[in-house]
Amino acid sequence: MGLGKTLLVVFSLLHALVLATSVGVEHAADDVSTYIIHVAHVHAAPPTHASQCMDQLAIAHYTSFLQGILPSHLSEPTPRLVYAYSHAATGFAAKLAKHQATHIVHHPSILAVFPDKRNELQTTLSPSFLGLSPSNGLNRRSFTADPSLPPPPSTFRGRCISTPSFNATAYCNNKLVGAKYFCRGYEAALGHPIDETQESKSPLDTEGHGTHTASTAAGSAVPGANLFGYANGTAQGMAVRAHIAVYKVCWAKGCYDSDILAGMDEAIADRVNVISLSLGGRSEQLYNEPTSVGAFNAIRRGIFVSAAAGNDGPDMSTANNLAPWMVTVGASSINRRFPANVILGNGETYVGTSLYSGRNTAASLIPLVYSGDAGSRLCEPGKLSRNIVIGKIVLCEIGYAPTQEAAVQQAGGVGAIVPSRNVYGQFFLSSPDLIPASTVTFADANAIYSYTQSAANPVARIEFRGTMISQSPSAPRVAAFSSRGPNRFVAEILKPDIIAPGVDILAAWTGENSPSSLSIDTTLVEKSFVVPVCNPPLVPVVQPGLRIRD
Ligand SMILES: *[C@@H]1O[C@H](CO)[C@@H](O)[C@H](O)[C@H]1NC(C)=O
Ligand SMILES: *[C@@H]1O[C@H](CO)[C@@H](O)[C@H](O)[C@H]1NC(C)=O
Repeated sequence: MGLGKTLLVVFSLLHALVLATSVGVEHAADDVSTYIIHVAHVHAAPPTHASQCMDQLAIAHYTSFLQGILPSHLSEPTPRLVYAYSHAATGFAAKLAKHQATHIVHHPSILAVFPDKRNELQTTLSPSFLGLSPSNGLNRRSFTADPSLPPPPSTFRGRCISTPSFNATAYCNNKLVGAKYFCRGYEAALGHPIDETQESKSPLDTEGHGTHTASTAAGSAVPGANLFGYANGTAQGMAVRAHIAVYKVCWAKGCYDSDILAGMDEAIADRVNVISLSLGGRSEQLYNEPTSVGAFNAIRRGIFVSAAAGNDGPDMSTANNLAPWMVTVGASSINRRFPANVILGNGETYVGTSLYSGRNTAASLIPLVYSGDAGSRLCEPGKLSRNIVIGKIVLCEIGYAPTQEAAVQQAGGVGAIVPSRNVYGQFFLSSPDLIPASTVTFADANAIYSYTQSAANPVARIEFRGTMISQSPSAPRVAAFSSRGPNRFVAEILKPDIIAPGVDILAAWTGENSPSSLSIDTTLVEKSFVVPVCNPPLVPVVQPGLRIRD
């Protein structure tokens, strides 16, 4: 109970903070939004008992609780319950007017009131989340039934929810034993139901990240798995004998705290053994971070929680999911590489990386041009001069490689060289390149730039070397993009706790989105069937601040 007391103290402190900041709020504004409300268990929580209609009972309980504590002059608009929480937290989420939220903070049974936050779409690096060959259908096979797998533990209570776009009978089996989705907080924030022509209101993954992380954790063994021939071999999840239950809490426009907490609440109620969270935001404090609160209550019931540190490195104090009661995991390199050499007319060779699916460019050298001499330093779509680029390899400045490659291709270019970030040093990430392309270090890009400016007729070729296992540079190393400590809340608690391979990992991808997440990229892979806990959608990283000319 010592830990429980600690949490209570934290919540009480926050109560005081909310009180302090709420002074002066008038009753006039009717701006209704979702709040997460933590209640003192002894006073306000409904009795917990296993029941099919537990959720409805708890929602009815909290609805009347709210009506009871709001004086009549504050009873309008009628508060609407979004969720009741009884495992990951004790309390509920409700749509309230601001003056109602301000009022209930004072009630002795209420510990804290937090506005529901949208977790900012965390920039994820698409190249670190590889796809799979269309012919191999790794995603379907990653979640395939395994006859040698025993049934899930008898304590497990989860199940798969069927919807028109997710046929649980077809998709679930003794590997994928649970599939649920949580979107009430999202819909409350949208102000209307999910547009099912735009996204699937079901456990189906239409983005890719969740499928990738779930198969990495516990996917079945898939022989002959590869991405466009790269990394060919038997792919399997690290805990290949584990069962997978997925809880989809992220949507096209973000992941809401109220949905994350609901997903964790359900996972705890389903009695999973391990919760793996590949999401997180930069919360101001641990006590209003749903992953921290949910993980705290999970750990108290013996459920192990691991969470991603994030992809915001190499800057200091960028790690997320910092609570001491969860294991925070950073990303490391492995000894597998996908070299793509850039060979220049002056005889120099620069070793880059690529996951280009096609053949080598011509063995002979072809003209090379710097993007800044062709109308668009960043190789932006529609801005490169076709007259200058046609038939050439284009050296672009730092941007989102797949978008840049599409722009080069549109302008008639036949290849691209894209720089990695300066702060990444010798580290770079492979892209699922659409055209012959190589990602090179920032320093090498500068050397290639100098050549384009000094040679009378600059020429180059790109040589794809396939998959290579090499000890040079040594591995594992912390990936440059992996978020770093120190812990910005409590420096004495070291975070991340551990690193694990997280660079260029071959795992399943959804058939609903291409590995590059570009609409122009038609390399859709086989239709996927699952969605695990997920990160926000991929967002291109464009860093116009970094220049090749230094
Ligand atoms: C769901 O899948 C099962 C098994 O493949 C099939 O028998 C059933 O007809 C499907 N249901 C629907 C509604 O498509
Ligand atoms: C992958 O490896 C298997 C076994 O060595 C081989 O039969 C298959 O052709 C390879 N596939 C590709 C695309 O390289």
